[in-house]
Amino acid sequence: MTESRPARKQIHLAAHFPGVNSTTVWSDPRSGSQIDFSSFEHLARTAERGLFDFFFLAEGLRLREYGGRIHDLDVVGRPESITVLNALAAVTDRLGLAATVSATFNEPYELARRLASLDHLSGGRAAWNVVTSSDAFTGANFRRGGFLDRADRYTRAAEAVATARELWDSWPAGGERRRFAHAGPHFRIEGEVTVERPPQGHPVVIQAGDSDEGREFAASAADVVFSRHSTPEAGRAFHADVKRRLARYGRRPEDLKIMPGVTYVLGDTEAEARERAALISRQQISPQNALLAAEQVWGRDLSGYDPDGPLPDVDPDPESTLVQGRVRIADPFAVAARWRALSEAKGLSIRETVIEATARHSFVGTPESVAAALEEHVATDAADGFILIPHLTPGGLDDFVDRVVPLLQERGVFRTEYAGTTLRSHLGLPAPVWKGGTP
Ligand SMILES: Cc1cc2nc3c(=O)[nH]c(=O)nc-3n(C[C@H](O)[C@H](O)[C@H](O)COP(=O)(O)O)c2cc1C
Repeated sequence: MTESRPARKQIHLAAHFPGVNSTTVWSDPRSGSQIDFSSFEHLARTAERGLFDFFFLAEGLRLREYGGRIHDLDVVGRPESITVLNALAAVTDRLGLAATVSATFNEPYELARRLASLDHLSGGRAAWNVVTSSDAFTGANFRRGGFLDRADRYTRAAEAVATARELWDSWPAGGERRRFAHAGPHFRIEGEVTVERPPQGHPVVIQAGDSDEGREFAASAADVVFSRHSTPEAGRAFHADVKRRLARYGRRPEDLKIMPGVTYVLGDTEAEARERAALISRQQISPQNALLAAEQVWGRDLSGYDPDGPLPDVDPDPESTLVQGRVRIADPFAVAARWRALSEAKGLSIRETVIEATARHSFVGTPESVAAALEEHVATDAADGFILIPHLTPGGLDDFVDRVVPLLQERGVFRTEYAGTTLRSHLGLPAPVWKGGTP
């Protein structure tokens, strides 16, 4: 008789290229360039060496400003995602290539064409992270300005995805190209596409937004959700909520993978990892970043304040437009009150308060304890996998791939080789249903 163990739920892993965010530590001597192709290549090759599902690029369509000047973290700029991924397709073999592209500021014809091209060039490895950036600050860069109401962002995104899928289905692989005609509230277009159906049928669709509308859109149309819920409790609640919504669209729980963005810090001992984590937090929240974080709450110019001194004794300005290109803190008064209580209770300076209140590393420990925690998260449905956000560019993933991936493989929860060639196959996703009539 052969012994049969219940199959363990497999972990999906992806790599986020860290660039324009406060996770990235540019002050570290090991940090390299954010724009040189060699940086993208290094991280992508590392992710592929680690047999990751995909490499992920975020998008910012405008540099954030701070007091009328470009934000410190943004000065290195941000190249266009699909362009970078096309180049990476040539130096990788199996790794999925995920581009964040706004559905608010792009047209479905152009999106479908660019993503189908990436899917062809990479042999079926393309993914589109559909974001809905709608703020007028970003919109000012575009012909229409800040043209879309909050309420319309997801109806446009859903129609953009549905339209792109119609376009991908309008020229069957190896078959006759047909005319498409789409008429809906946001798009009324007709013609013929220029690229035949992509190798994956439809590139993988990722969603990253957290409102009720965002979750509904994910349940109706996405293959993967990039969530921000990385703690076990928040992860389980989010996972249960989004998976529950799938039945409404005739979909099964396994048709959608939920992958929170997470950070990690490794050490040879637990104590060393914790020490390293504290050091990284101090690098991430420099005196300048601490003031910036406080200004986002207070909405006031705090440049005259000492980051090593006490919190401002004034109230936040609810009308502030000081920091542009960032999601506004929902209730700055509540945050300020919480920070003040923390600062008073522990005698903390501005910088120490910001570190204490905001610095979080999702997984801190030895490679063994981090591997165990990742498995536990996935086994208990706090996530189906993770999008790892290293704090160093471009070498920040090396230690994870060298030290944690082999342990996940030993535990039987991560692949030891790629089974297929497409991103869809890495994710275990069903082939998209053909909607183009008889091919
Ligand atoms: C984890 C996560 C990552 C995101 N990444 C991006 C991004 O790279 N570029 C972007 O323009 N918007 C990004 N967004 C913003 C969302 O697309 C959306 O505009 C925002 O979350 C507001 O929508 P919501 O109210 O549904 O959350 C991200 C959102 C989340 C939750």
